[in-house]
Amino acid sequence: MKIITCLLLSVAFSFSVAAQTKLPVYLDDSKPIEQRIEDALSRLTLEEKVKMVHAQSKFSSPGVARLGIPENWMTDGPHGIRAEVYWDEWDQAKWTNDSCTAFPALTSLAATWNPELSKLYGKSIGEEARYRNKNVLLGPGVNIYRTPLNGRNFEYMGEDPYLSSRMVIPYIQGVQQNGVAACVKHFALNNQEVDRHTVNVVVDDRALYEIYLPAFKAAVTEGKAWAIMGSYNRYKGQWACQNEFLLNDILRGEWGFDGVVVSDWGGVNDTEQAIYHGLDMEFGSWTDGLSEGKSNAYDSYYLADPFLNLIKSGKVKEEEVDKKVRNILRMVFRTTMDRNRPFGSFATPEHGLAGRQIAEEGIVLLQNKNKVLPIDLNVTKKIAVIGENALKKMTIGGGSSSLKAKYEISPLDGLKNKVGSKAEVIYARGYVGEATAVQDGLKSEQDLTDKRSPEELIAEACQVAQGADYVVFVGGLNKHDHQDSEGGDRRGLGLPYGQDALISALAKANKNLVVVIISGNAVAMPWVNEAPAILEAWYAGSEAGNALANVLVGEVNPSGKLPFTFPVRLTDVGAHTLGDYPGVNKEETYHESIFVGYRWFDKNKIKALFPFGHGLSYTQFTYGKATISRKSILENETLTVSVPIKNTGDRAGKEVVQLYVGDEKSYLVRPIKELKAFDKVNLAPGEEKTITFTLSVNDLKFFDDKKHDWVAEPGKFTVYIGTSSADIKSTVDFELK
Ligand code: BGC
Repeated sequence: MKIITCLLLSVAFSFSVAAQTKLPVYLDDSKPIEQRIEDALSRLTLEEKVKMVHAQSKFSSPGVARLGIPENWMTDGPHGIRAEVYWDEWDQAKWTNDSCTAFPALTSLAATWNPELSKLYGKSIGEEARYRNKNVLLGPGVNIYRTPLNGRNFEYMGEDPYLSSRMVIPYIQGVQQNGVAACVKHFALNNQEVDRHTVNVVVDDRALYEIYLPAFKAAVTEGKAWAIMGSYNRYKGQWACQNEFLLNDILRGEWGFDGVVVSDWGGVNDTEQAIYHGLDMEFGSWTDGLSEGKSNAYDSYYLADPFLNLIKSGKVKEEEVDKKVRNILRMVFRTTMDRNRPFGSFATPEHGLAGRQIAEEGIVLLQNKNKVLPIDLNVTKKIAVIGENALKKMTIGGGSSSLKAKYEISPLDGLKNKVGSKAEVIYARGYVGEATAVQDGLKSEQDLTDKRSPEELIAEACQVAQGADYVVFVGGLNKHDHQDSEGGDRRGLGLPYGQDALISALAKANKNLVVVIISGNAVAMPWVNEAPAILEAWYAGSEAGNALANVLVGEVNPSGKLPFTFPVRLTDVGAHTLGDYPGVNKEETYHESIFVGYRWFDKNKIKALFPFGHGLSYTQFTYGKATISRKSILENETLTVSVPIKNTGDRAGKEVVQLYVGDEKSYLVRPIKELKAFDKVNLAPGEEKTITFTLSVNDLKFFDDKKHDWVAEPGKFTVYIGTSSADIKSTVDFELK
């Protein structure tokens, strides 16, 4: 009783103290944020303001210590929370408490076609960022998949602006509900790694607005992202991080972005443009721009002393730095100075489980002839696992997204754990790719050195394969240079390290061959008719092996769909057919314009190896006929399209029903069809559901570059309902009056 009275008294006392001591406006969270910003700004010296707009270490920028305004701490992103590096070096700082959950790569997330999982992803990684006291997560990435050679495609969400828009929004919301800003990257047109610091992208306005910008726009206007990262490349001759068209006109002008524009690390190249063209924070510069540097050069940044001196000399008005600081303070009030934000959590079993669910739903069953999969453990005695990627750690490497994961289950271990004593799992290497994974001083403990010749390795693999009921080959790409890795592109579409020959040999040795590709990009498959089953399993993070095993043995029924087209050959891709990749004299024209991905394949009637939206299941789905609520609409009306779908197989499964719209006739050339809606449905065996989509005039619009506006032209439209972009089950049409 005494204790309770004491407590009550002390609570009452602290309330009365708070009431008496009037908080300065910037600390008073009952006041509107804009008022707090102005109050804080009025208390800052010019020097303090200039300090806030550039880095003080590799990943942080100063706060204002005397006012209690915290520093900003950034972290990569986008697949997990990067390990701590030294103050001014990329090498690991060797902390022992920074091993994170590695979540699946964003290609895997996009392949789930499940926005709820994107929310779970964002929430989980946001909790990890929060726990590690980071207030800005450098991700997600939504650059469009223009060429399968781009070394960073694995960090993005595929080729379609609609799919990536729908998937990026919940990720951002999930992150930001933790009081952590999502920093969407790389804005914009960073579609390759070759010459990434210099290439000037020449793209027409239609392609810019219809293909390359929508996911960023959705991130800003619907996801309400609090930060965005400029990209390295140039557009209209100006670097994207200091680009008046992208940052001032489009991002702030057209979309009303009120967050912080962060430069990519070393993406700033000029003080004046950085001042006037919409950038707020400069990170990663060396004194001479991009290359050689000296340590702790932060005062020499473009937006440091050079900026300060220009203001002091009166050549630049102080209001230029004020504009930037306002945006930074707004982000600070939304993150570190939000007293109500949660505390986060780190490397928890819940996050592992979230990662596994995403990985499982992201795996795409590309082919399953003779129903080779799933592996029936009741009758299977021996499984041969072949290939380097069955062992290889994939969370280390790839560039800035490299992770120090708390754990990573390899495909081999995942399968062994799953199979237990039910069957024997034997392993053979098959091919040798790269022996060690190293990134910024973080080295995997695995040493995969093997001196045997390709012939010896293939011979051993075939021998192992012959005696098994199943052969599971796990190969693909990895996170080494010129594979799926930042800073360089792939050199071809083919699988590296002689894997094609090995796969063909394995197909001859055993008819029950399952090929598992681990990659973030499409690969050529000259052996496609030899391997009955093919899975794309992506870089799937800590739980990679468990997720794959669950799909292989049928505990999880695959439901992923490709977020980009797998071409047969490179020259089937627009960016390569028209021959300007990777640019001429550091200038690259996107001649294919809006015809990216399936839009190009549709237009040119090219058959894909596996089309956008493709993905099989262990069950079958039967689509009924689509119906439409009305045959015509006016500008301000909507209509609905419904389609019944039934699970006619013998196990529960999920299907992604896809809706594409085609404009039959228009005064500007348009793709045959474009994705405008999708829904992932879960159906028990025998169950039937009717899926209903609503379409509005916005779904019919194209960007008229002359008018600089979105236009819906009256006339006939066709709605295509498909299980992929190339497998259309039903169509209906209507007219826009
Ligand atoms: C990458 C960014 C990354 C940054 C910080 C840059 O090289 O392009 O994506 O967030 O480094 O590591």
